[in-house]
Amino acid sequence: MEPRDIDGDLTEILIEEEQIHGRLAELCRRIEADYAGKDLLLVGVLKGAVMVMADLARELKHPIAMDWMAVSSYGSGTQSSGVVRILKDLDTDLHGRNVLIVEDIIDSGLTLSWLIANLKSRQPESVEICALLRKPDAARVDIDVKYLGFDIPNQFVVGYGLDYAEKYRNLRSVAVLAPHIYS
Ligand code: PRP
Repeated sequence: MEPRDIDGDLTEILIEEEQIHGRLAELCRRIEADYAGKDLLLVGVLKGAVMVMADLARELKHPIAMDWMAVSSYGSGTQSSGVVRILKDLDTDLHGRNVLIVEDIIDSGLTLSWLIANLKSRQPESVEICALLRKPDAARVDIDVKYLGFDIPNQFVVGYGLDYAEKYRNLRSVAVLAPHIYS
């Protein structure tokens, strides 16, 4: 779906599809260099990371493994609480593996903070993070992101995996949702 297909639902296109692909290619060259000669397991966090995982994995010039987790934050409405429940765990034993967590967005950082601690407790060789988007103004904890796509303003964004009420994930760009849609 293109922004023009849902023109009235958006106020601004923040990042075009071509910019996303260009940035992911840059990140992939760094990942390839950093993990040269090593095994690499990409761990995608459902559902938002589906698009970035698919494009990142295909852009990488090394064979990699992929696995998925689904987590849910306890708490009210759209606010993350930091207390996370695993809805779907990994199928992979992380012992001795190089893990790269793939996320669509870091908002408060609470989900990733919990996830990093959880995955590190499984004796992997290493755990790093690749996130397409980060909202610095929304951060409640510091997260060390090794591979970051873009910092964005603290606005309600959708597209490229990010949803509002499960809609707009299939938008090719990242865009700001019009307030009349959610208010
Ligand atoms: C989003 C995103 C991260 C999390 C970030 O997932 O994919 O996992 O929120 O927020 P935080 O930094 O404040 O913890 P969401 O819970 O919306 O689920 P989804 O990926 O299925 O849309």
